[in-house]
Amino acid sequence: MLTQRPRGMHDILPQEAFLWHEIEEAARRICARYGFSEVRTPILEHTELFQRGVGENTDIVEKEMYTFNDRGGRSMTLRPEGTAGAVRAYVEHKFYGGPQPVKWFYLGPMFRYERPQAGRQRQFHQFGVEVFGVADPAVDAEVIALGLDFVEDIGLKGLRLELNSVGCSQCRPVYRERLLAYYRPLREQLCEDCQGRLERNPLRLLDCKRETCKALAQRAPRIGEALCDECRAHDEGLHRHLDAAGIAYEINPRLVRGLDYYTRTAFEVVEEGIGAQGTVLGGGRYNGLVEELGGPSVPGIGFAAGLERLILALAQRRGEGASEAGVDVFGIALGDEASVELTGWLRRLRALGCRAERGFEGKSLKAQLKAADRLGARWALILGEEERRRGVVIVKDLTGGEQRELPALELESWWKETEHGTGR
Ligand code: HAM
Repeated sequence: MLTQRPRGMHDILPQEAFLWHEIEEAARRICARYGFSEVRTPILEHTELFQRGVGENTDIVEKEMYTFNDRGGRSMTLRPEGTAGAVRAYVEHKFYGGPQPVKWFYLGPMFRYERPQAGRQRQFHQFGVEVFGVADPAVDAEVIALGLDFVEDIGLKGLRLELNSVGCSQCRPVYRERLLAYYRPLREQLCEDCQGRLERNPLRLLDCKRETCKALAQRAPRIGEALCDECRAHDEGLHRHLDAAGIAYEINPRLVRGLDYYTRTAFEVVEEGIGAQGTVLGGGRYNGLVEELGGPSVPGIGFAAGLERLILALAQRRGEGASEAGVDVFGIALGDEASVELTGWLRRLRALGCRAERGFEGKSLKAQLKAADRLGARWALILGEEERRRGVVIVKDLTGGEQRELPALELESWWKETEHGTGR
């Protein structure tokens, strides 16, 4: 136990961390482009927030939350998603009283007690955005465009965008009745989970992955035919905006999402190549949630992307061997005095932005060159006793093997020119 991480939770080791940085930087870059600011909410919230926010009849609340009593006897839950906390913060800090829309993004870990498999973990990370205060379908289009720009920016092109409307508190109950009327006589043919869900949350039957349930869902009544006029107009408006932005989408009438708060727009971005858990990003509109959580009636919309799934997809497309180019200069000192002098040089080079490493413990030239090679260093700076006495240093190009001697005092200007020359 002592040397084993909890099931479904992962260490992000240094060799993968650069990919995480790339993705996080892309998220920040795209958010800046769209005018979103970062919000950081606690990882723990009161359990009630998720019960009310995510919904009592969802898998998340029924069986996936990490819930415990704190030392004061309050029931607390590790956040299973980011929207409920963002809404709580929006209401608690009365952002509804200021100019709208309020546009936020977040990055961080989420926790769900799910059965682990490729692309599904118990601690995973999301990049999410939320927009409060505007019901216009132009916002839906902006949020979707932001999500697609993000996945494309990190190098995933050609993913499928699926879109649906799940209606509102006016038209969904009507649709729910139609679904119940369709499914009740078929009850015996449903899987055990769906039999249990039938009366509580029949919409969820539409995205069951079991073959028999899938076949029944194919023939089920479609929500598109049950939408009220306002929901239909919103949906058509969104399509016009997406068309104008050149965004291709597929209408999936069985896309219902696993959380209860959605109204109207629901969407997912799917990557085919990474197996069963191919949804890399999911979101939608939640026009009743702010009010449900104690605020005024304010519309909202957002999405969250699963960073582990994006990394899986990226690793698959880039193949093995992708890694960070990490070291500019590797310093090699031969002898104690040289080692001391190298300490000073490297500090000055690093102050200029040079990524510098060095050998330690007086290893042989051969061993140190090997270490430089392993790190993928571009240059070696070699300082033996002889060079030290003459006030020079050997600069060896580790890609071409060429080497030359340089007065030690010119090292900093050498780096400035080199850095300039490589365009870094
Ligand atoms: P969600 O569909 O539950 O939505 O999660 C969004 C994304 O998080 C998924 O598409 C997937 O990529 C990733 N994800 C979810 N569960 C796991 C897991 N166990 N392991 C790895 N990745 C996972 C939400 O969370 C909503 N809060 C999104 C949203 C924001 N809707 C409106 N605003």
